[in-house]
Amino acid sequence: MASIKDSNAWKVLEKHHAVMAGLSMRDLFSEDGNRFEEFSLTLDDMLLDYSKNRITGETMRLLLDLVRERGFEARRDEMFSGKKINVTENRAVLHVALRNRSSRKIILDGQDVMPMVRDVLARMRRFSDKVRDGSWTGATGKAVTDVVNIGIGGSCLGPMMACEALKPYQRPDLRPHFVSNVDGSEITETLKGLDPETTLFLVASKTFSTLETRVNAETARAWLTDKLGVDAVPKHFAALSANAEAAAGFGIGLKNVFEFWDWVGGRFSLWSAVGLAIAIVLGMDRFEDLLEGAFEMDEHFRTTPLEENMPVVMAVLGIWYINFFDAEDHAILPYDRYLSRLPAYLEQAEMESNGKSVTRDGEPVDYITAPVVFGEAGTNGQHSFYQLIHQGRHLVPADFIAPVLSHNPIGDHHRILLSNFFAQTEALMRGRSPEEVRAHLSGKGMDEDTIERLLPHQVFEGNRPTNSILVRRLDPRTLGRLIALYEHKVFVQGVVWDINSFDQWGVELGKQLAERILPELGGDEPVSGHDGSTNGLINHFKKLRAG
Ligand code: F6P
Repeated sequence: MASIKDSNAWKVLEKHHAVMAGLSMRDLFSEDGNRFEEFSLTLDDMLLDYSKNRITGETMRLLLDLVRERGFEARRDEMFSGKKINVTENRAVLHVALRNRSSRKIILDGQDVMPMVRDVLARMRRFSDKVRDGSWTGATGKAVTDVVNIGIGGSCLGPMMACEALKPYQRPDLRPHFVSNVDGSEITETLKGLDPETTLFLVASKTFSTLETRVNAETARAWLTDKLGVDAVPKHFAALSANAEAAAGFGIGLKNVFEFWDWVGGRFSLWSAVGLAIAIVLGMDRFEDLLEGAFEMDEHFRTTPLEENMPVVMAVLGIWYINFFDAEDHAILPYDRYLSRLPAYLEQAEMESNGKSVTRDGEPVDYITAPVVFGEAGTNGQHSFYQLIHQGRHLVPADFIAPVLSHNPIGDHHRILLSNFFAQTEALMRGRSPEEVRAHLSGKGMDEDTIERLLPHQVFEGNRPTNSILVRRLDPRTLGRLIALYEHKVFVQGVVWDINSFDQWGVELGKQLAERILPELGGDEPVSGHDGSTNGLINHFKKLRAG
């Protein structure tokens, strides 16, 4: 594919950017009373207001021209139809099949994958129902009270985020826990207070070869068998994996393996058997509601014209700032405590997918791809990093996300929370002019000298772009829509940038070097085979340990 910078749409956008860079959103709003109506979209109760962006109707037209010129529509159809678009791993990308709630077949290598998907969903239902109604018991006949998901990356972040997001739907007597880090403190702290007789471990690993997960699973097994003996393992361990053979090697028999497939990327695996923890703690009906919500977004993404297509609109806005305004960051700001794990989830979704610097053909790219994604639940972030978003030199586009109805409608909490959401997006857009600062400070009775001294510190440039996403209530269906919205946004950006959003070779080198270093940490003798810093660190570690 020709370089993006040679495309006609890109060149036109560069010229358009030169004009737009000088315009303020404040002015755009005062000139156009219909800006909100013009730049907002709905999908049932989900609203995306993108009017507080540095755009006009022309900007959107040009950005969508770029998407079309990059062949997006054909690439989207390839994904949905099972083409092997993950070119470096020769795999299809079919997480959409996991939540295909229609009777549409999805053919891969001449075979419809849907019967396999439905079969695993049925097994998940049987198993989760049994755990929930107490008919699945541990080795000593007691019902399960604690479910420990052992997995890392996509094998943790999705179920962990969803369980937290949907906590109000959980039963208090069935608690989820997540162990991902190989740091022994994590599993130690998790197992403290748990009873082996009532604990169920779900070992979630697509490959079943991830070192962190294997080590944690072995520690968990030792903890269990120490109290209950090895025969207890089949009643306390299940595997969620695309590698049943390796799970069997660990001692988890086929009956306890919930399968998924190589065409489900790790960071898209929440919809697969990796979601078993969600199904157990929330119930399979709610897990299926989550799938329904994602399916609704898939259908929206597949069939809606680009102008009204939420993921496409969010994707092009990201491209507008990243590639034309040189914005390298993106903040995810959920105004809901239950969405506190969403920023971490989207860090992987965006940065592992699009943190790439060669095209699908292996040519270097000379433009920024994925932004650095970070975030925090509001209002906490307001009292830490928002300062930089308001007055720092970085341009940090931000997504504000909130439910209109709280699960905990006590006192005035939710109105105060949402007043902050609305105020922040307004402040970021409007800023505060020198005249407004002067009026504000003199209103407080301040003398002229002090006002002039403080003025530059209290001026807000504004013109900071935000998207606002409002939903009625945070429920499984809404969460499904929200996650699929971001997945597809990332897909569109990957297509425009012509990168493979579905591999993650960048994690390999560190893993390989760690394998080499691990045995070197064993003895007391100093190492010398690395660079000076790495030798120095390893030898210092050995010295302190010996001391
Ligand atoms: O960090 C790389 C990665 O492959 C992620 O993409 C994945 O989610 C994670 O490791 C865990 O992999 P697995 O599920 O195979 O243990």
